[in-house]
Amino acid sequence: MPVLDGIQREVAGHRPLAGHRIAGCIHLTKKTGVLVELLLAAGGEVVWTGGDEVSTQDEIAAALRDQGVRVFGWRGMTTEEVGPTLVLDNGARMIGRIAADRAAFPELVAATEKTTEGSRRVRELAPDFPVLLVNDTVTKLEVDNTLGTGQSTLDGILRATGMLLAGKRFVVFGFGHVGRGVAMRAAGLGARVIVTCRSARTAVRARLSGFEVMSPVRAAARADILCTATGYPDVVTGRELDALPTGAVLCNTGQSVTEINLSDLAKRTSRAVRIRPHVTRHLLHDGRHVDLLSGGGLVNLDAGEGNPSEVMDVTYANQALAALRLGRERLSAGVHELTPEQDEDVARRKLEAMGVHIDREIAACP
Ligand SMILES: NC(=O)c1ccc[n+]([C@@H]2O[C@H](COP(=O)([O-])OP(=O)(O)OC[C@H]3O[C@@H](n4cnc5c(N)ncnc54)[C@H](O)[C@@H]3O)[C@@H](O)[C@H]2O)c1
Repeated sequence: MPVLDGIQREVAGHRPLAGHRIAGCIHLTKKTGVLVELLLAAGGEVVWTGGDEVSTQDEIAAALRDQGVRVFGWRGMTTEEVGPTLVLDNGARMIGRIAADRAAFPELVAATEKTTEGSRRVRELAPDFPVLLVNDTVTKLEVDNTLGTGQSTLDGILRATGMLLAGKRFVVFGFGHVGRGVAMRAAGLGARVIVTCRSARTAVRARLSGFEVMSPVRAAARADILCTATGYPDVVTGRELDALPTGAVLCNTGQSVTEINLSDLAKRTSRAVRIRPHVTRHLLHDGRHVDLLSGGGLVNLDAGEGNPSEVMDVTYANQALAALRLGRERLSAGVHELTPEQDEDVARRKLEAMGVHIDREIAACP
């Protein structure tokens, strides 16, 4: 992760986060481990918990603990005992708790939020402390959500099922940044991609990108694989489940484990059998069966390794620079966005790491 390495070298000498107690709530993977090491090198005292139930890598938690990081399992975490000054969040899980009990966090200076779903939640919460959204930049949305998650979602599905994708009907619910990446990669592997959208603007974009666009139930009726990528709950409910052909594979790569309504699935299930790691076959009362991947949680993080390190290098560079900014600058209460200058800075660092020199190329253009 050369971009993070570069930032770490810049800050290591003068420890700009010294005196800050940083609480992080982001999937505990090897890539997050590199971000945590940067925060430690910047002088921060760090405590960390995973982003959800399926993504923690125990060996990474153990390695960070050996470096003095207090690591909590998701269930055991109580932010009260941490008393953080900075919070780095994923899905607004900690920010939500802080907003609900603000008095319990008297020392909090500011927080960051790194996901689409979490950013929306932060805006709804209208917090009375500064929150810097580290999501709405080109370097995050395009590199991570579209290109990174597109690949890692397909990787997770293939690792879980071992199936051939070519010729299969692959239905994507949602055509935002993540859905677009998933649709693109599925098509690249030869699947026949069908997209469902909630808005006409998105539907037009999907259709003119070359994909079939259909209503949810019609799309579900054709699905060999159905993948949700919206960030909203109850995207697949009883109506879609009743339409699925037997043998359909059902999975989710949006942040929320509630995109597939699991209680609707449970109501229709006579028996559930784990047929492979990450795959539960639901035998339905009406004689059909469907295979649910990763219990409806994030398939790319559960069945695969999440986004590649090269992608998270960029995502976490945004996060690291945001944390460093919060360490030196007091922002006003409320929601803040990253600046286009930081977006450009991260993109420049990534290009350098890849050995791409745009100035020279532009100069060489006739
Ligand atoms: N798996 C991962 O590693 C990963 C990585 C990045 C983001 N995410 C998550 O993926 C989710 C989507 O992120 P995004 O950046 O694409 O968001 P986005 O806002 O760009 O796109 C979401 C799209 O879903 C559509 N939508 C909402 N409800 C729908 C429904 N019922 N049916 C069909 N479409 C519907 C919206 O209209 C929107 O176009 C978020 O929860 C985000 O946090 C996951």
